[in-house]
Amino acid sequence: AYDAAPFVPAHADLAALREAAAGCRGCPLHRDATRTVFGAGSADARVMLVGEQPGDQEDRQGRPFVGPAGKLLDRALAEAGIDPGEAYVTNAVKHFKFTRAASGGRRVHKSPGVRETAACGPWLAAELALVEPELIVVLGATAGKALLGSSFRVTRVRGTVLEEEIHGRRERLVPTVHPSAVLRADDREEAYRGLVSDLRVAAEALG
Ligand code: URA
Repeated sequence: AYDAAPFVPAHADLAALREAAAGCRGCPLHRDATRTVFGAGSADARVMLVGEQPGDQEDRQGRPFVGPAGKLLDRALAEAGIDPGEAYVTNAVKHFKFTRAASGGRRVHKSPGVRETAACGPWLAAELALVEPELIVVLGATAGKALLGSSFRVTRVRGTVLEEEIHGRRERLVPTVHPSAVLRADDREEAYRGLVSDLRVAAEALG
């Protein structure tokens, strides 16, 4: 089975984790991706944001949420009263999964499957254990299923504070839509308002 666990060092700090993740071969996604995109931010961060997987820009630059979805997310966070620079930002899956639009053409995002998400889980668990955030903001269905299981439905729980045991730790989580879904929405303004409103719940929970 696909599994990152053999690549995750014990007793590592974030820098050592990031270095080890660069060599992860726990699933086949490393073959076509440019590089591992590990989480970014301080181990002291009070809030952790969890997305799906790096996109095209993130894969090129090696940092999460630096592309169009990330720009929108940063704007929404600031508007909700959360400093994006103070957050720890990561993804459920740490390699870009894509298909080619045509031979040699544009790389088109492909959602990770449960096998890849489960395989990558030990990296997310290690990040959670080190950062110990006061609150997790869950961005969309893939992150939700990775953290809370396959019954997770973003439409049902978005904008609420959940309390769940994850990897042996009691966590508080606020789910919301993925910022890419806002970019794809028919009514982008309304979708953006919804994202900001959910993030305000997170800001309130952080106090
Ligand atoms: N979408 C994600 O889920 N994560 C990123 O890092 C960028 C886009």
